[in-house]
Amino acid sequence: MTRLYREQDLALNGGKPSHAKPWQTGPFHHPDEVEALGKLLCGPALPMARGPAVMAYRQQLQEAYGMPYAVPVSSGSAAIHVALSAVGVRAGDEVIVSPLTDYGSIIGILQLNAIPVFADVQPDSLLMDIESICACITPHTTAIMPVHNGGYAVDMPALMKRARARNLAVVEDCAQAHLATLRGRFLGTFGDVGAWSTNESKHMKSGEGGFLLTRDRKLAETADLFADKCYPRFPGAPPTPAFPALNVRLNEVNATLAAVQLRHLPKWIARRQAFAAAFHEAIAGIPGLAAMHQPRGAQPSYWWVCFAVDSEVLGVDAVRLCALLNAEGIPAGARLQQYVPGWEVFRRLHEDPLAFGSYRPGRLAVGRYPLDVAPRAQAAGARLGGVRITQHNTPAEARAAGRALGKIVSVLLGRRV
Ligand SMILES: Cc1ncc(COP(=O)(O)O)c(C=O)c1O
Repeated sequence: MTRLYREQDLALNGGKPSHAKPWQTGPFHHPDEVEALGKLLCGPALPMARGPAVMAYRQQLQEAYGMPYAVPVSSGSAAIHVALSAVGVRAGDEVIVSPLTDYGSIIGILQLNAIPVFADVQPDSLLMDIESICACITPHTTAIMPVHNGGYAVDMPALMKRARARNLAVVEDCAQAHLATLRGRFLGTFGDVGAWSTNESKHMKSGEGGFLLTRDRKLAETADLFADKCYPRFPGAPPTPAFPALNVRLNEVNATLAAVQLRHLPKWIARRQAFAAAFHEAIAGIPGLAAMHQPRGAQPSYWWVCFAVDSEVLGVDAVRLCALLNAEGIPAGARLQQYVPGWEVFRRLHEDPLAFGSYRPGRLAVGRYPLDVAPRAQAAGARLGGVRITQHNTPAEARAAGRALGKIVSVLLGRRV
């Protein structure tokens, strides 16, 4: 139980911050990366395709996730683009995707001249709702892209049941969900393909980079070809480029960094999970706050540690609560994920399906993207907050975050909590 706090105790009102120590941070790159890069650069000229560092990283990814095929590429956006192409998404097809995500989930759909269809999220959640996904399915749907926002799990068993029944491909966006599991299985291994980013902000960082994983050899080979100009670089590849394809290969330098980061990753994820466990314990019983709902058996990898704010109980939304929390010395934010249908690109397509010369899906109607296309997603920004963490943050800091929230809620409710 907290003591009773008053308005003037809030740090935002000039009171003493609940957590005065600096939020811990530290290095994100390590001497073993420097050593590996040094070795790489002392060798022959760096090969552009299927070099030894990339091929070793490929193998390492397969072992880390227990998957038979990995395709390293230049970014998470590229991984998704390549994956969608490999599962057979074509011009005019509809791909059901989250309205709360990064442009990386969307741009591959647009590049294939396909049509993004935004399913809504669950109440008080950043995660797609399975019933809403099903309601979006039309005869033009060819793929579904669950986005595991913040390292939390979309309900994959339920989704796969529905997708398989309708013969739809599933590409999991795991950019923010490295090594997260659901019922003991890695996110990204439920669908036809999983796609990850290793950009600067992710659980593991290689400057730029991405990869995809699949169990399907044919699909892996198509992805490989699409990412590498469809050149004949492995047995069985067509002798000359057989379809339009990109160059979005991962390079040797980024692969070398990623390989070292991947070795450290399990320990970093365990630290994030320890933070989250302590945080959930600390906020249990604080009125108006709840952990974000997860399917049974989920073990998120916590890119953020999310909490839902009941503004009817507290009289403030997550935006205000996070401002108060920041002042108390805990880095937190609301509006964690962008509401994509509100972007200028969709406003323009809403008015004019032919607004962009290179985008010609054929079947896009005027008025396709109303702003209320996913109302729960639109509201989610103000209903969910997240504590910003990295592998450097500790359970002691999680408890400090819980104390700070207890203090704020005590002021908001005018009683001890
Ligand atoms: C959910 C999600 N999908 C896709 C991407 C795209 O990854 P990248 O920035 O490596 O292209 C990101 C990156 O921020 C992301 O967060």
